Amino acid sequence: MAVLRDLAGEERADYFRGIQPIWGGGLDDAKFQLFQRRLADSAEAAGRYRLLGWFEGGRMLSAMKAYDLRGSCARRPLKLFGIGAVFTPPALRRNGHAASMLRAAMDEYREKGAQAAVLFSDIDIEYYERLGFRVVESRECSVEAGALPRPSSGFRPAMPGDEPQMTRLFGASRTHETRFALDRDGWTLRFQLRRLRELARARGIGEPEWGIVVDGSAAAMIRYGRDTVDVLEAGWTDDAARTTLLSGLRDCMQRAGRQRLRLWPAGPLRGLFESQPRTSAIAMIAPLDETASLPERNGPTELALLDHI
Ligand SMILES: CC(C)(COP(=O)(O)OP(=O)(O)OC[C@H]1O[C@@H](n2cnc3c(N)ncnc32)[C@H](O)[C@@H]1OP(=O)(O)O)[C@@H](O)C(=O)NCCC(=O)NCCS
Repeated sequence: MAVLRDLAGEERADYFRGIQPIWGGGLDDAKFQLFQRRLADSAEAAGRYRLLGWFEGGRMLSAMKAYDLRGSCARRPLKLFGIGAVFTPPALRRNGHAASMLRAAMDEYREKGAQAAVLFSDIDIEYYERLGFRVVESRECSVEAGALPRPSSGFRPAMPGDEPQMTRLFGASRTHETRFALDRDGWTLRFQLRRLRELARARGIGEPEWGIVVDGSAAAMIRYGRDTVDVLEAGWTDDAARTTLLSGLRDCMQRAGRQRLRLWPAGPLRGLFESQPRTSAIAMIAPLDETASLPERNGPTELALLDHI
């Protein structure tokens, strides 16, 4: 009889060792362990982020990340269960362990009041469809630097202390949102920032460059991909502020030697650039409460890269 529970000390290390070759972001095992451990132990993680395992006796059969998320659809608030980094050790695969763990975790979060589960699939979606998930809008934009306005003045890098201003700007453009979206209450931004900071620390870099601000009127949260600058989320109050912000993103690409800007077309970023269907990180949801309003299959979402946790 297998049970679902939080991973303890050495079990966490086993899980991190297992996922490092897949999601290690170029960090070696020791640095990845440090990064993941600090993130899991951070103040931002408390109460919202867990590492769960499916155990038989003392043996870990499968493991995953679990997030306690808030969102909305059709202006109704939603309690959501976020799923990430599902992993079964290679020797134990194809025994139904991941599926049993996911079912048990969905039951546990349903009992705690979650109305839907959400994940971003990197494998064939049929696997999750068999568990009750359906695909929702999953598009991305890849923009060349030349498509952005030439660098002007008026922007600056985000600094510690900018978080509340950025959260306000991100939230304001979503006040009247009716599509399925995660809340812009500040937690996702703070958690992602903790993630970026711990990643930079594990890489031996100081404070990462994580945003661009046009004081009082526009902001973007960013991260550096291998070949891209990724816009996690953005917001602005008017067209002039948007132009200044986009020129700041171009400046950032030039400084970092990245040719392309990558983003998910959601919120104010929707409609700015041509988008294509995503081939990975496919957004999927499964209802846990049949009365909750949720998008249909392929239905619209407002999920920005910031929400991909
Ligand atoms: C995906 C994974 C968690 C499944 O674990 P598992 O305990 O073997 O899962 P189950 O026994 O419940 O299901 C096995 C089924 O998973 C599905 N599956 C596994 N890998 C898959 C992949 N890359 N694409 C599509 N389906 C996959 C298959 O349908 C398989 O059944 P089959 O081989 O009999 O057709 C495991 O293969 C793993 O750890 N992979 C590496 C990490 C990963 O990619 N995680 C998913 C991130 S979204």
